[in-house]
Amino acid sequence: MFPQDVIMKKRDGLALTQAEIIYFIQGVVQGYFQDYQSTALLMAILLNGMTDEETSWITEAMMKSGEVMNLQHIPKPKVDKHSTGGVGDKVSLILAPLAAACGLCVPMISGRGLGHTGGTLDKLQSIPGFCTDLSQDEFKQQLEKIGVSMIGQTSNIAPADKKLYALRDVTGTVESIPLICASIMSKKLAEGIDGLVLDVKFGQGAFMKSFEKAKDLAQHMVAIGKHTHCPTVAFLTDMNQPLGKAVGNSLEMIESFECLKNKGPEDLMHITIELTAQMVVLGKLASDMDQARTLVLQRLQSGAALAKMREIIQAQRGNPDVLDNYKLLPMSHHHQDFTSPVAGYVHEVHALPIGVAAMILGAGRQSIKDTIAPGVGICHLVKIGDQVKANDPLCRIHYDDEHKKIEAWDLLKNAFVIRPEPCSKPKIIQEILS
Ligand code: URA
Repeated sequence: MFPQDVIMKKRDGLALTQAEIIYFIQGVVQGYFQDYQSTALLMAILLNGMTDEETSWITEAMMKSGEVMNLQHIPKPKVDKHSTGGVGDKVSLILAPLAAACGLCVPMISGRGLGHTGGTLDKLQSIPGFCTDLSQDEFKQQLEKIGVSMIGQTSNIAPADKKLYALRDVTGTVESIPLICASIMSKKLAEGIDGLVLDVKFGQGAFMKSFEKAKDLAQHMVAIGKHTHCPTVAFLTDMNQPLGKAVGNSLEMIESFECLKNKGPEDLMHITIELTAQMVVLGKLASDMDQARTLVLQRLQSGAALAKMREIIQAQRGNPDVLDNYKLLPMSHHHQDFTSPVAGYVHEVHALPIGVAAMILGAGRQSIKDTIAPGVGICHLVKIGDQVKANDPLCRIHYDDEHKKIEAWDLLKNAFVIRPEPCSKPKIIQEILS
């Protein structure tokens, strides 16, 4: 077999065999598939698609391209959550300690933010001293000890994905459902989990703009979970307005801490409680969602989830005093309110310009090499359905650089729609697939 045989077969619209897919993925890692051959095949996959069988095989081959963690010695159900990313999406920061406080083991491997969407790792790193690049041994030890650890992707987890994702990023081949599916699921399945909850977002602030495309992706990922014996449930959630009221690293940490104190914004609390309850059901710690919700709420209200966050911060060498004193987090030098020119009701809060504005301020990266300014961002955001008076703040901008603030300000001018008639709050969880 030669790389060109596999490329030509997919170019002609034929399904690949499992052996051909393994040959490709091993070739990417071992180097006998040159980058130009890999990208030709990726483009053929984007144009001609893959069957469900092929998608499962490529996921499995990518997962096995590195280490698949074995956590069987930990006597707790191992369940994780993955979000396809959005603006103000800080759910993992609340859900991981909350799920662990419910009795689950949560081996969470997360990514960095790119473009208008933020990343869990960047947010955690705003905590002074917090270390996200633990070795795999340290990661496992922490899971044994406290049942949760939150780290970045290590080089031995799905290395084929790392290589292929970098090629896809620069060759117009990111938007292929089988490739996105394999990329996400190979990394998650390599964590050695017993169950997975997916938060697949749709809307202008999300990776998938339409509900239909998000549902298609979710269905494929749930099917892969089934094939690989990892029960998977996908939530389809609205990402047209930012999640919660804060966008930016320190600001989102503060909002997450408030949620752990059971004082967070309604939409963020709701989605986090539902996703965590679903993890609890998958981990068989409750027989149905009602029982799971009761457990989750009890762990929030008792302070157990907050105590678990303290343990995580301590274990990962951060300063746990941030939980009681938010001034220990890095903050921007200046802030200014962005006010409403008119009175009325908030009908739209556009996630995309808000996400881009936060990125311009320095909360996110335009390119992977950019550095993050942890203290900048946007907070006190109004939510759809809120009533405002003329000159009331619609949000507050935290900034260090006046020029960047002016650029962000311009974007915010198109971010809010205020109309005289009342407006109801949107339903955030649109559908659940299992
Ligand atoms: N996130 C991933 O990890 N991979 C993709 O292909 C797309 C989003």
